[in-house]
Amino acid sequence: MADADLPSSGLPSSGLPSTGLPSSGLAPEETAPYGGTPPAPTGAPEIKKVRTHHLRQWKAEGRKWVMLTTYDQYSAATFDEAGIPVLFIGDSAANNVFGYRSSLPVTVDELLPLVKAVTRSTRRALVVADLPFGSYQRSPEQAFDTAVRFMKEGEAEVVKLEGGAEMAPQIELLNRGGVPVMAHIGFTPQSEHNLGGYRIQGRGDAAKKLMDDALAVQEAGAMSVVMEMVPAGIAGEITATLDIPTIGIGAGVDCDAQVLVWQDMLGLRTGRAPRFVKRYADLHGIMLGAAQQFAAEVEGGIFPGPEHSFED
Ligand code: KIV
Repeated sequence: MADADLPSSGLPSSGLPSTGLPSSGLAPEETAPYGGTPPAPTGAPEIKKVRTHHLRQWKAEGRKWVMLTTYDQYSAATFDEAGIPVLFIGDSAANNVFGYRSSLPVTVDELLPLVKAVTRSTRRALVVADLPFGSYQRSPEQAFDTAVRFMKEGEAEVVKLEGGAEMAPQIELLNRGGVPVMAHIGFTPQSEHNLGGYRIQGRGDAAKKLMDDALAVQEAGAMSVVMEMVPAGIAGEITATLDIPTIGIGAGVDCDAQVLVWQDMLGLRTGRAPRFVKRYADLHGIMLGAAQQFAAEVEGGIFPGPEHSFED
């Protein structure tokens, strides 16, 4: 498909799901009582689905793009509406949804419902699901079985796994079995204890290993590779060397794409953020203010007003 067939980012909101619109089973003028993902409005323009080959095409054209994490219906539908081409259910759900202190404890059974919520709420974006710690490292067969669950039950379109050359057998088998794979090199949070904590990877002599890992995952058939917390220089060299797209998080401006965790990007998470995070909004402040105002209005007898109440 020619790239011109794809809508550019910033799609018209009329063509995409938005929050709080009628859900199936209700007359159009009624509003779903507790939300629900609406069907596409009648007459909405056809949205061309983002596919893995588009990411390669964009690399060839030098066109940059973004990936955002998402773990639920409304954030997925909103980011899809915003034209974000790749949505990613990261194992970072561990820290951003489930309240764990690292990504290590989260399980396949915990992530699968989140993947389902995202795929049900997404019309255009390519949906990538993360394989959690312990669900793929043992063998290529284990990786394949886990990936199949994410694709069959969760309807994910790509799976991501952490590791470089050592993951080549897993990537090869997945690829042969029809599972597109996004690799992840540099700082790999699932190996936090092996790497000695949150540390920049690929500095000095370690740059060669990073390049070797990038080449190995490409050779094994990965469709793209995330590079986390690596010096911008080597990330740029790897991006220029590889045919597959690179997606940076703390990897400088020369990567083909950038990814951030949405709660970081939108300022829902407070406190000290990693250096690579830029906050584009203050959702924490908005939610705090709104919750306090709600409480104050109820306490003051202001809410609910007559317009929120039913007549006899
Ligand atoms: O799980 C996650 O959010 C990630 C990103 C940092 C790429 O792996």
